[in-house]
Parts: sequence; structure tokens; C-alpha cells
Amino acid sequence: MRETHKSAVIGAAPEGARDTRAAASAVRQMFTAIAPRYDLLNHLLSFNVDHLWWRRTARSFREILWRPNSRVVDLCCGTGDMTFALRRQAGRTSPQLLGADFSHAMLQRARAKSATRSEENGTSLLGVAGWVEADALSLPFPNGYFDLVTSAFGFRNLADYDAGLREIVRVLGPGGECGILDFSEPKGLMGSAYRLYFKHVLPRVGTMISGVRGPYAYLPASVERFPSPDEMLSRMRSAGFREATWTPYTFGIAGLYRGKK
Ligand SMILES: C[S@@+](CC[C@H](N)C(=O)[O-])C[C@H]1O[C@@H](n2cnc3c(N)ncnc32)[C@H](O)[C@@H]1O
Repeated sequence: MRETHKSAVIGAAPEGARDTRAAASAVRQMFTAIAPRYDLLNHLLSFNVDHLWWRRTARSFREILWRPNSRVVDLCCGTGDMTFALRRQAGRTSPQLLGADFSHAMLQRARAKSATRSEENGTSLLGVAGWVEADALSLPFPNGYFDLVTSAFGFRNLADYDAGLREIVRVLGPGGECGILDFSEPKGLMGSAYRLYFKHVLPRVGTMISGVRGPYAYLPASVERFPSPDEMLSRMRSAGFREATWTPYTFGIAGLYRGKK
């Protein structure tokens, strides 16, 4: 298949960020600023469909999650909802499951949620082995360590997508799988309605409730900037993934990229 992307660095570029270091720093600051209201806004602005997307993603990796002793990391885990969905899908099996994020404030909320849930359920940490403060572009894990790497709505925020994919390939063992759940831009009538909502309604409501200007204007801009499914698949193959696929969710508003090492 023809590789469609160019070789220039491509990644998130919040307004005013001149290089990848500044972009990463702006992204971290943004999520740290909205951390206290992140969950509320997420569910409100996605009409709670986000739960279905996390669950569907987790379900699609059940073979790995049901394997005893598998090692799983959820990158850019934020307040942990994708990580919890993976944990629930694993059921009685106990994979070594980690959540990793570079925003301390987001991780603090993940930890607090997992403590509350453990108390309610009488189980320890709901089986999440740990929350790691780490940059997805430079992970503190050895080569070939994981059987599964996931990321939900986080990968799009990386300052260098190819470096992000290479780092995922590095930490995956042979045959290991990756699942990247992220937004996309639907086509046709649905696309027009979506753009209207995403560009005009969402930034206003987001700014009003979070009390922070910026992040909710950055969101639609970052989705617009994110590679199309064809280009993303081409980048995944170049990074070393085979069997790279994209499955649209909810008319293509979101979708799951999968690849095998
Ligand atoms: C939109 S939130 C997604 C959180 C969660 N996965 C979810 O589905 O709700 C994006 C998260 O990615 C994290 N993030 C962005 N760039 C990162 C990087 N380079 N390394 C680690 N975390 C990163 C942010 O701190 C933020 O918590």
C-alpha cells in the first residue's frame, strides 16, 4: 500500500506553541487546569456516549485481558475511565494493569476514584496495579514489556505522533497489540451537525463550566489537525505495526485504531 504521509513532525500544536517541547508543556498545563471538572464535562459534552466507547474498546481486547498475567498499560489515562473499563472487562482475571499520564492532577483524580471504588466494592484498587506519572513519548518501561497498550482520547494530544507510535512499538512484546481510541471527523450530514456542535457549542459550554479559557477551543482544533484514518494507518505501518485497522464508532465521531507488533 502507498504510504500517504509526509516525513515532517506532526503532533498536537496548541496556539502559541512553537516547538514540540512547548506543545507538550501547554497540553500538560491545559489538562492540569481542567482536571477538577474533567469528568463532569466529558460526560456532559459527549452525552455520556464516552462510556460506551471505552467499554467497546475494552471488549475488543478481551482475549488479552482474559489471559492470566498479561501486562497492560493505558497511556494518557487521565482520570482513569478507560483503565477502569479494561479492569472491568478483565473480570476475574488479574492482568498487571497500569494507567500512565503526565499530568499529576489528572492522575490524582484517577487514584482517588480507584480508592473510592475499591472501598465500595471491597476490593483492592479494583485490580489497577498502579498509576504512573510518565510522558507517553518517553516511557519508563523496558522494551517488549507489554501485551497491550491502549490510549483513549490522549494520543491526539501528543506533540509528535510518529514518536508516540514508535514508543508504543518499543514497549510492546512480539505479538503485542495496541488500541488507540480517538475522535475523528464524520462525513456528510452528520459531519455538518457535528462540526456545528464541536466548534460552536462545545467550546462555549466547556469554557463556562471549567472556568478555563483555551482547552475547549483547542479540542476541535486538535481533532481537525489529527491525521485522517488513512494517514494514521499509514503512520502505524511505518512505525512497525502490522494488521493496522480503524473501526469507526458512532457515525465516525470517534474510532478505534488497532495494530499488532
Ligand atoms: C482528553 S484526556 C483523556 C483521558 C482519558 N484517557 C479519557 O479517556 O478520559 C488526555 C490525557 O492525555 C494526557 N497526555 C497528553 N499528552 C501526554 C503525554 N505526552 N504523556 C502522557 N500523558 C499525556 C493529558 O494529561 C490528559 O490527561
